[in-house]
Amino acid sequence: MTSQRILAISGPSLKLLGTREPDIYGPETLDQIHARLKKRGRELGVVVDARQSDFEGNIVQWIGASPKRYVGLLLNAAAYTHTSLAIFDALRAAALPCVEIHLSNPEARERYRARSRIAPACIGKVSGFRGDSYVLGLEGLVAFLRKTH
Ligand code: DQA
Repeated sequence: MTSQRILAISGPSLKLLGTREPDIYGPETLDQIHARLKKRGRELGVVVDARQSDFEGNIVQWIGASPKRYVGLLLNAAAYTHTSLAIFDALRAAALPCVEIHLSNPEARERYRARSRIAPACIGKVSGFRGDSYVLGLEGLVAFLRKTH
């Protein structure tokens, strides 16, 4: 049987992790987080693919194509979390279970970060645990998939 695949998508400026405001986002690079995600995926019996883009359209296209290859999504849309109706619509159209991920806890920061436009299209959210948010989100998504697939 081929393994189930999960796609992890990270949005703008997350390729700068490691040097980007480490007091807020933690010391890990995105490559290090991706390596941890893939390893945890193997332990859980799924394959994790991980991508980053600064461009909203790329993220919309990746979400749109995702049902062909993937059973679920992890999405840290970064600043697009708070603005992007296009990403919300893409998630609704793809209709895959998606976990919203944040390294920081946006609700505890500036007011303009308190609203997530994509949350209503997600099954849940993990925020505030820096790089661990991605791994915790993966564990939650796999548990959800085990119950529903
Ligand atoms: C973020 C939180 C967003 O508000 C911010 O724009 C980011 C990163 C996080 O992971 O904590 O770029 O999504």
